[in-house]
Amino acid sequence: MTAKPENCLNIGVLGCGPIAQAGHFESVTKGKNTNLYAICDVAPDLVERFAVTHGAETCFESYERMLDDPKVDAVIIATADAFHVPAALQALAAGKHVLCEKPLSVTLDEVEALGRAVAESGLKLQVGHMKRFDPGLQSAREFIDSEMGDMLAFKAWYCDSTHRYAMTDAVQPLIVRSTASRRPDHDPKADLQQYYMLAHGCHLVDTARYLCGEIIAVQARHLQRFGAHSWFVDVEFANGALGHLDLTVAVRMDWHEGFQLYGEHGSVIAKTFNPWLFRASEVDIFRESTGASSRVLGADAHFYRRQLESFADAVLTDRPVSGADVADGIASVRAMLAIGESAATGRPVNLADVSGAV
Ligand SMILES: NC(=O)c1ccc[n+]([C@@H]2O[C@H](COP(=O)([O-])OP(=O)(O)OC[C@H]3O[C@@H](n4cnc5c(N)ncnc54)[C@H](O)[C@@H]3O)[C@@H](O)[C@H]2O)c1
Repeated sequence: MTAKPENCLNIGVLGCGPIAQAGHFESVTKGKNTNLYAICDVAPDLVERFAVTHGAETCFESYERMLDDPKVDAVIIATADAFHVPAALQALAAGKHVLCEKPLSVTLDEVEALGRAVAESGLKLQVGHMKRFDPGLQSAREFIDSEMGDMLAFKAWYCDSTHRYAMTDAVQPLIVRSTASRRPDHDPKADLQQYYMLAHGCHLVDTARYLCGEIIAVQARHLQRFGAHSWFVDVEFANGALGHLDLTVAVRMDWHEGFQLYGEHGSVIAKTFNPWLFRASEVDIFRESTGASSRVLGADAHFYRRQLESFADAVLTDRPVSGADVADGIASVRAMLAIGESAATGRPVNLADVSGAV
């Protein structure tokens, strides 16, 4: 590893749970412009263990005390979804920038309140939609912006696999859990239809928005059989392109994620891998002008570290975040709400008309 510059962003990580252990601690310690200054969890066993493992300068069992520390420049919120917005509001009030895990929240009112608080604070908030830092997806976005011309149609699929844990157990560090961890009152996995939409649907919706822009309306169908859930969603994009999303959890096969995109001057076909392989999507971009396809190879695909470095760069240079911002987080929640309502009523739903909780 190369030496870090002096003006690294001092990060405090809230939450020492699985996502911090598998993604964020390593991202902060390896990040070219970030320093693991503090970690925090109400579970003392996790704090003690991971402060040593990752060499945090200091550690806290109280989030308020971490926020009181003037050396903390920014926090990563790596807690259960229900705690994201309250923790983000506290951080902004304490003058800290925020990288918050996805989904931003479960309710629309909460995320909209957060949107107002971010605007008033003048601080940066980025949402952990780390797929925007997949070099394959970034190559597709560059082609769309610069060469593709008009977009005709986009279809994308995100199908988690029944074999995901065999794979993640093999490649992730050993995940340590604590009985002292703080859990939401309501078990997030009690309603799997809701959980799958929040945990996985938000990635699919964000990828669609990253590549195709705003979603205006959806018409969705949902079916549950043998414990598996499938949503087929017709999407109306603001750019007028046809859109279709398939969210299926879990398919009886390997991880299955990708998209096809048909444009005026070329087309894109993408295969995305389970993120814990840290492998860039295989994205074939066909250009009519050359009659040939190209694919990014050998790229750095540590999505979690790359999103953090980009966030830190935005803070250190006082530029807007280039990842998902609070408006993107709000739009994701709106899209998930609309998909749920449409699947329940059988009618098309405008994103502008939704309210309530996912
Ligand atoms: N981007 C991705 O690919 C990805 C993957 C997995 C999970 N996630 C997201 O990451 C988030 C966290 O997931 P997880 O499985 O690690 O959660 P978790 O609930 O298992 O762990 C969170 C930890 O935060 C601690 N905590 C919560 N509130 C606290 C507070 N106020 N003060 C101190 N400690 C507090 C808890 O004690 C717990 O140990 C979720 O929102 C999830 O959706 C994202």
